[in-house]
Amino acid sequence: MQAVIDYLKQNESRYLSELCDYVRFPSVSAQPEHANDLKACAEWLVKHCGQIGLQAKLCPTQGHPVVLAKTPAAKPHSGRRPHFVVYGHYDVQPPEPFELWNSPPFEPRLEGRSLFARGASDNKGQNLAHLKAVEAYLKTGTELPCDLTFVLEGEEEVGSKSLASFLKEHRDELRCDAVVVSDTGMPDKKHPALTYALRGIAALEITLRGPARDLHSGIFGGSVDNPAMALAQLLAKLRDQNGRVAIPGFYDDVEKLSAYERKQFARLPFKAGDYRKFLGVPQLFGEHGFTPLEQRSARPTLEINGLTSGYQGAGSKTIVPAWARVKITMRLVPNQTPAKIIKLVRQHLKKLCPPTVRMEIESGHGAEPYLVSPASPQAQAALRALRCAFGHAPVLMREGGSIPIVNEFKKILGADTLLLGLALPDDNAHSPNEKFDLDCFAKGQLMSAYLWEELSKA
Ligand code: BES
Ligand code: MN
Repeated sequence: MQAVIDYLKQNESRYLSELCDYVRFPSVSAQPEHANDLKACAEWLVKHCGQIGLQAKLCPTQGHPVVLAKTPAAKPHSGRRPHFVVYGHYDVQPPEPFELWNSPPFEPRLEGRSLFARGASDNKGQNLAHLKAVEAYLKTGTELPCDLTFVLEGEEEVGSKSLASFLKEHRDELRCDAVVVSDTGMPDKKHPALTYALRGIAALEITLRGPARDLHSGIFGGSVDNPAMALAQLLAKLRDQNGRVAIPGFYDDVEKLSAYERKQFARLPFKAGDYRKFLGVPQLFGEHGFTPLEQRSARPTLEINGLTSGYQGAGSKTIVPAWARVKITMRLVPNQTPAKIIKLVRQHLKKLCPPTVRMEIESGHGAEPYLVSPASPQAQAALRALRCAFGHAPVLMREGGSIPIVNEFKKILGADTLLLGLALPDDNAHSPNEKFDLDCFAKGQLMSAYLWEELSKA
């Protein structure tokens, strides 16, 4: 093990430049014009995995390719070894708005210990940390106590549409004792974290159509409904004064937070005042009766992600717009399901829609919420690896984000997922000026190195 640790230290600067190469690919899965960049990024990964000593291949799918990479076969007579899958994603969120970046999103920039680039934290830096730990094992000839298979996909940020069928097709070679994912966060560098729950998600796009074309608002305005106004009024009815989602039945299946969990939440390092300042809001807002930590990870929400109608250019244009559109996602908690929630929302929207406009609803990606016991021997092993790597006692957390595929790992491969995130709250995931902390990169590699020892004993 010491050889592995020394190797990680000695190769720190090369690892950084490889992370820079990785984040230079504008692998934006939501934008069709970047399809070739995703492919190039996947090819780079395959080559990189090969150089490390993994057996790697590019697997085409209906969407963006999956990279599959395995550690070499064990020496004969080494007996049954545990097998773990490491999952990560090489696709990134759109970088827009460009003007808010202090340097171009796909030209990595180092400032202190922060590497700025889209995808640095979510998720390239985090999955590269695992690859680099394995490199240290393979290059120092240190025997791994287990077999590892990396599954790196290019569609996580758009709902992992192709991955479930990929898992089914490769079920036999992917059968494993657990899945390890570093694609979540930790409160700060002194509190490494094991995340034991994620929220699910359900996405919708609603379009209200009014007149057949944009109309002169002076000539016609007043005699037809305005789709933007109709949409605003409709949306305003979806949340009440207490921050609760006002859709009948929305909370029916929500599992109550136990007193034990609420106590655990209260133990996490969190200062509401600092949090408010960090977010830049005049006042925090959330569902009454819950703390901010509970609100953002263990309670369901409905959010407007984008709202468009009418003229958006310079100056003014006096029109009644022909249409208005909103993109909505709902975050779900145990035991809500995307299918049931989408059905409830559709029913309710139909009731709310006035007869003066036509409504179109398109439902998008969905993922079920995830919850796993933090008391399992594997979770305990992961906690030991975190403590060794970071030198601090880890915390247990629930998180509000979603990783659509984790439930499929359970259903298709029968394996639980250990979520060992390396992102910091100020990494700006999905925001301008995303960055990854190089200490998290280094500690993440160490954690991964310890993890295989600990997990293989568990
Ligand atoms: N890494 C995030 C998920 C995450 C972030 C979990 C922070 C917990 C804490 C992941 O890349 C992500 O952004 N997922 C999307 C999924 C969606 C597009 C289906 C999300 O949560 O919005
Ligand atoms: Mn993300």
